Amino acid sequence: MVHDELKKTASWAALRYVRSGTIIGVGTGSTTAHFIDALASIKNQIAGTVSSSETSSAKLKAYGIPVFDLNDVSLLPLYVDGADEINDQLQMIKGGGAALTREKIIAAVADCFICVVDSSKKVEILGHAPLPIEVIPMARSYVSRQLIKLGGCPKHRQNVITDNGNIILDVYHLNMRNPVQLEKIINSLTGVVTVGLFAERGADIAIIGTTRGAQILQKNYYTKC
Ligand code: 5RP
Repeated sequence: MVHDELKKTASWAALRYVRSGTIIGVGTGSTTAHFIDALASIKNQIAGTVSSSETSSAKLKAYGIPVFDLNDVSLLPLYVDGADEINDQLQMIKGGGAALTREKIIAAVADCFICVVDSSKKVEILGHAPLPIEVIPMARSYVSRQLIKLGGCPKHRQNVITDNGNIILDVYHLNMRNPVQLEKIINSLTGVVTVGLFAERGADIAIIGTTRGAQILQKNYYTKC
């Protein structure tokens, strides 16, 4: 499980950005699961968490880490989450774990978004992985037709209902040379809840787990991280 070790390397390296007494945003997926293990090792130093999925909430609670409703939280200094792909601009494809909508909401609130990935997720141009889109169930066919017009090949992810009661379309073959524009276009389709392109609000820092340790990529010199 080489990838899993690299995911662990990246996730544990994110601990250095956790400030004591604060609330931490926690994402979803196998990489984030390592971050939850890491967070548990300092659980008495943090005020608690907000979580992007029922799965992550259950794991956090099992460790005895408080999970707050985001509506009750006004300050969120840090959000840590994985990605399916990330480029040099720290724009991402997310949603492999179907938690993209809650992830995007937490990313919008957080001052600092740290993306933790193994080195296989780092790409030059996004789009090797399919693009997940959360869609209201009755809009599935309509949205699929619009995505085909955009050049994509949508596939309904079988047997998956999101935590919000919606379906996921995984879209292949979209041209992602302009991710900010594509994010806007897909978000504007009626029936789309969220597109898993995190381009407008990408990560502030990426921590890449490599065989030589954790590599840090930072977009701007000035971050709130
Ligand atoms: C969940 C996500 C995950 O962060 C993404 O799918 C990466 O997952 P993993 O850490 O298991 O490789 O966006 O919706």
